[in-house]
Amino acid sequence: MREVKIEATLEVYDDISELPKAVKNLMNSAIEARNNAYAPYSKFNVGAAILLENDEVVIGSNQENACFPSGLCAERTAIYYAGAKYPGTKILMLAITASSQNQVTDKPIPPCGACRQSIAEYEIKQEQPIEIYFMGAKGKVVKSNSLANLLPLLFENSVL
Ligand code: THU
Repeated sequence: MREVKIEATLEVYDDISELPKAVKNLMNSAIEARNNAYAPYSKFNVGAAILLENDEVVIGSNQENACFPSGLCAERTAIYYAGAKYPGTKILMLAITASSQNQVTDKPIPPCGACRQSIAEYEIKQEQPIEIYFMGAKGKVVKSNSLANLLPLLFENSVL
């Protein structure tokens, strides 16, 4: 037996104002998208914005449904739209912001497991890391240089 250690390094910014300009703009697009979340059940709004290599920005927000599992997270709404509209165009960055309608969300909210798996598919397909930035409604912003940092031991298509 031997132990295997899995490590990830993340960067933490104190505030959105500390981000480089292009990232700040992208996070502002995610904040705008968050306002269009349809979240009457969870009261939890999430916005996502994707920057593509052709400079296009694709946004998404969570869209809920009375049949709960039929709803979709913001990140997947955005990334599937990017894949559908710009199939061969690489994804450079993804910015995510989440806010509760009931309380101030000042902690960074990372993407859920299903979204990580979905984002991973595109990172593997394009053979280039996607930078991920996530925050709450305010406060710290966390950066991961690659989705791979957030999902060790992911399920990959090479095993199929
Ligand atoms: N949600 C997202 O949009 N992204 C995530 O990564 C986690 C959760 C949404 C789904 C649901 O509409 C609400 O947040 C509460 O789970």
